[in-house]
Amino acid sequence: ALHRPLPRTLVLVGLMGAGKTAVGKRVAARLGLGFTDADHAIEEAAGCSIPDIFERYGEPAFRDLERRVIARLMHEPVQVLSTGGGAFMDAQTRATVAERGLSLWLKAELEVLATRTAKRHNRPLLRQGDPKAVLAGLMERRHPIYALADLTVDSRDGPVEETVERVLAAID
Ligand code: S3P
Repeated sequence: ALHRPLPRTLVLVGLMGAGKTAVGKRVAARLGLGFTDADHAIEEAAGCSIPDIFERYGEPAFRDLERRVIARLMHEPVQVLSTGGGAFMDAQTRATVAERGLSLWLKAELEVLATRTAKRHNRPLLRQGDPKAVLAGLMERRHPIYALADLTVDSRDGPVEETVERVLAAID
C-alpha cells in the first residue's frame, strides 16, 4: 500500500529491546525515507562505542552528547529516527521533538524486552544489576514520560513486519 508523505521526522522512543532500530529501518524503507539510529550517530560523533563513552566519560557526558546529536538530527530533512531508551527523558529533547517531529512510543512488555536485550551485551545500564530487574525499574520510571509521545504502538513478540504495519497504520 502507498502511504502519505511524512510531514515531520518520525522519532521512535521506548525502552531498550523495544525494536526501535529494527522497526525504524523497515518503516523508513517503506516510506522511501532515510533512517538514522541516534545511538549510532552518537558513536560516530564520539569516535567510540556507547559502552566506551559510559566507561571513559560517564553517563552525564553521554546524555549531553545524546541531546546535541538528536538536536542536530532534528534539523535534517524529514526521516525516521530511532533514539536510545533514555533520550526522551530529556526535557529539551522532548521539546525539540515536539516542535519538529512526530514521536512514537514503541511499547513492549518486560518479558519481551528482557529476551531481546539478552542477545547483545552492549547496554551499560543493564550491567548495573540483574538486567530484568533494571528493565523493570526503568519501566516504572520511564513509562509515564514515554506516554507523552504523540503516538503509541505495541511491539509484541513475533514478526517485526507486524509491528511495522502497526506503525504505518498509526502514522497514516
Ligand atoms: C539507553 C539505551 C541505549 C543506549 C544507552 C542508554 C537507556 O539505547 O542509548 O545504552 O538509557 O535506555 P537502546 O534503547 O537503543 O538500547
